[in-house]
Amino acid sequence: MNDLGPSSERDDRCPGTSYSDMLKAETRRVPDYLIEESNQELGDEPIPIERYVSEDWARLERERMWPNIWQFAAREEDMPAPGDTVVYDINEKSMLLVRQRDGEVKAFYNVCLHRGRKLRTESGPAIQLRCPFHGFTWHHDGRFKEAPCAWDFKHLEAKDMSLPELRVDRWQGFILLTENPDLPPFREWVGPGVEHFDNWRLDECHTAAWIGRVIPANWKVVAEAFMEAWHSIVTHPQILGFTADANTRYDLYGDFLNRAITPAGAMSPHIKGKDQFYVLKSLEDFIGGGDSRARRAGGSAEDLKGFDANDPMLARKVLAQANRDAFSAMDGRDYSDATDSEMLDNFTYNVFPNWAPWGGLVPNIVYRWRPWGDVDHCLMEVRILMRTRQGEAPPKAPAMHLIPDDQPFASAGHLIGSALAGVFDQDMQNLPHVQAGMKSSPNGVIELGHYQESRIRHFHRTLEKYMSGALPA
Ligand code: FES
Ligand SMILES: [Fe+2]
Repeated sequence: MNDLGPSSERDDRCPGTSYSDMLKAETRRVPDYLIEESNQELGDEPIPIERYVSEDWARLERERMWPNIWQFAAREEDMPAPGDTVVYDINEKSMLLVRQRDGEVKAFYNVCLHRGRKLRTESGPAIQLRCPFHGFTWHHDGRFKEAPCAWDFKHLEAKDMSLPELRVDRWQGFILLTENPDLPPFREWVGPGVEHFDNWRLDECHTAAWIGRVIPANWKVVAEAFMEAWHSIVTHPQILGFTADANTRYDLYGDFLNRAITPAGAMSPHIKGKDQFYVLKSLEDFIGGGDSRARRAGGSAEDLKGFDANDPMLARKVLAQANRDAFSAMDGRDYSDATDSEMLDNFTYNVFPNWAPWGGLVPNIVYRWRPWGDVDHCLMEVRILMRTRQGEAPPKAPAMHLIPDDQPFASAGHLIGSALAGVFDQDMQNLPHVQAGMKSSPNGVIELGHYQESRIRHFHRTLEKYMSGALPA
């Protein structure tokens, strides 16, 4: 048992078993980063709808925020070999990442210095950076190489024709870039909480699946739908049997990071009068056949051997052990010291403003939301990261599968699993209607729950700092 100090029972949290109570039942040592709560009192002011629907607001975001943050532009495995490139488009800008011979990554504005064509329109390997219009050509490191009809460009010979560079940083297998030359390095910029990932090693993972879909809603509307778990009671009722939605822990760190830990293998506090076998059965129904966890979730006599059938945390313990066994068979790693929580729960971290790398040791989801075209649309991307088998090189990432606008996420069920795709489709039943509904609001504001929607408020506090010029400091 772990000594976690006083009970977390308090009247501003969901009654019943809390995440902290679940940690008390752990049989492994629980790391401090799970135990410690990190709250900030941020008040209860409503949020102006203008932020989601106004082109003027979006223009100010483009001027004041986007150039002054670290952006998740690519994963290392998107561009493993020298000469590999990634085209990263955000708002009206396009950036070009290029893998160098020494393994470093450089980032350039994706524009030809002749007449302004995008140098590349597709990610992929490039022998050199040659503009498809007239053939101005650059080396991988951005040095100008040559142009046809050089006799006509003598006036450029004395000019620096190197491609203008952006700053690049790398963290946990993510390649970050910024237009701001003065931002601190990524890790320092994010600040407290970033170190939690040191134990989860997303740099030892690879992208096993990557999908995207354009959503008819502002990028913040969609991102915020993934910052709270409590909409599950109405939007995702099929997960309540094994997801303690309203017992989610929400933690806020600095300006740029927050997290939600949603317990899995425990039933929602909205469900009454069910036992631990109901939890196991609900998960089995959700996942369906074929998955090792689902096969075990029925609680066969063999799987329950060694567990106390009357343990109020039975399902968490059985499922966590099933995951330890299954993941270690898959990737050759040793999970014997990992907490049940890290083997099971949903650790949704959000890095300001627009991406969410999941923590923990289950296959890690990574979301990214980008403004797309106008204020009413965004591109939502979902990656599934899997731990690379120990001693093996990570496979190259697949290209993003873009789901056509008229197709549901379910059409990509073969890539991310039909259960997860079904959850996203349920979210999509709301999000375009949020974007449309807000425009009819007579008072022009939305309201937030004090605790369960505190990550949304935290996000807006940082956004406000950019809009007012308080950030970057
Ligand atoms: S625009 Fe690129 S070579 Fe002319
Ligand atoms: Fe949802």
